[in-house]
Amino acid sequence: METQPDLPAPRQTDSSADAPVWQLITWLNALIGLIAVAIVGLLIVVVMVGLGDTTAPAQSVAWTTGPAVQTASVTPVVSSQPDGQPKPNYWHPPGDAQLPAGAAGKEIRYGRELVAHTAKYLGPNGSVLHLSNGMNCQNCHLDAGTKIMGNNYAAVFSTYPKFRERSGGIETVVKRITDCFERSLSGKGPDSSSREMKAMVAYMKWLGTGVPKGDKPKGAGLAKLDFLDRAADPTKGKLLYAAKCQSCHGAKGEGIKVAGDAQYTYPPLWGPHSYNDGAGLFRLSSFAGYVKNNMPFGASYESPMLTDAEAWDLAAFVNSMPRPHKDQHRDWPKIEAKPVDFPFAPYADAFSEKQHKFGPYQPIADAKKAADPQAK
Ligand code: HEC
Ligand code: HEC
Repeated sequence: METQPDLPAPRQTDSSADAPVWQLITWLNALIGLIAVAIVGLLIVVVMVGLGDTTAPAQSVAWTTGPAVQTASVTPVVSSQPDGQPKPNYWHPPGDAQLPAGAAGKEIRYGRELVAHTAKYLGPNGSVLHLSNGMNCQNCHLDAGTKIMGNNYAAVFSTYPKFRERSGGIETVVKRITDCFERSLSGKGPDSSSREMKAMVAYMKWLGTGVPKGDKPKGAGLAKLDFLDRAADPTKGKLLYAAKCQSCHGAKGEGIKVAGDAQYTYPPLWGPHSYNDGAGLFRLSSFAGYVKNNMPFGASYESPMLTDAEAWDLAAFVNSMPRPHKDQHRDWPKIEAKPVDFPFAPYADAFSEKQHKFGPYQPIADAKKAADPQAK
């Protein structure tokens, strides 16, 4: 028997004895590597999805919320989006991630703040100036002018300056904002060179990011409803108001404001602190279109809570109640351009002021078309 006691044990014997351990370690290394790669991959996906979400229209927008506002718990009566029907490609506003850095971003944020909480800065007890009636732009331009069919600003920067029949001239964004201050907020607009006006313009410009010049994206502004084949009925509207609106807007349409607050929790619908009779909402078609897709608060175009007829009848009731008057004798220099539902004479047609106010509108629209086939 041959022995080699003096020879050191061959190296490879050593390592061959250790081989399973090394293999195991190599395996474990590879496994840990794989797991690490998987975790990193997963994290990337999660972050991407998170970022994607911030550009989608948010369910509740933190910076727009003022005093605790209740939403109606009424069940939607109709659904405008039956299941299985593809959703049209609606506008969606840019997200905060798309705000520019530095002074430009700050200015846009200030503009948004002014739209959302106007009264805090410019209302009767405003911290900057006292110009307006205590309402916020956002009361009518919901979610600071970003809600689909909630009177949003999607098409402002793409379509202004533009010719408007009401003034008979070319209107800039500044002029249009001033109009809402003078009519909807029944006051005065800030100077065109003020920090406030510039910030609101900057905000609307930013909201129009990516909207091609001249384009009106789907879901922009307000949706107009089909005409009823009868006159809108203020008596029916009064009953509906008591049942569906009064809990928030008050028995006298006066709204609800917590003592000491600059802003309304629920804005007024008529009376001395509401929009005046020169405002857009004073026309029944605008009021009905706004309310149908947005009221009671919590309703949306996807889950409206009113029928078209209810929205028209509510418009007839609310716009029959007293409110501030605006001298409009210089509006509509071309009287044949007055919209069918403009409620003040004179008119280019023979229909009464009452029919222009409440309808039925189709005969007026038909007569208008016959008189000028080019008119829209
Ligand atoms: C009482 C409701 C109400 C309030 C408050 C209000 N607006 Fe308006 N605003 C309207 C209506 C109605 C329209 C016209 C919508 C239509 O006919 O499509 C309008 C239109 C506009 C437009 C033009 C939109 C477009 O696409 O042509 C701008 C800009 C605007 N408002 C800015 C403001 C600003 C800024 C404030 C606050 C200082 C404000 N509005 C407050 C009701 C209101
Ligand atoms: C659950 C409370 C609630 C109910 C019910 C409700 N609203 Fe409103 N309404 C609001 C709030 C809150 C606002 C302002 C939204 C904002 O500033 O974001 C508003 C705003 C409005 C505005 C525009 C601002 C103004 O004051 O002119 C109109 C018009 C309006 N509501 C009509 C109605 C009508 C009509 C009904 C009944 C069908 C109704 N609302 C039911 C809470 C309510």
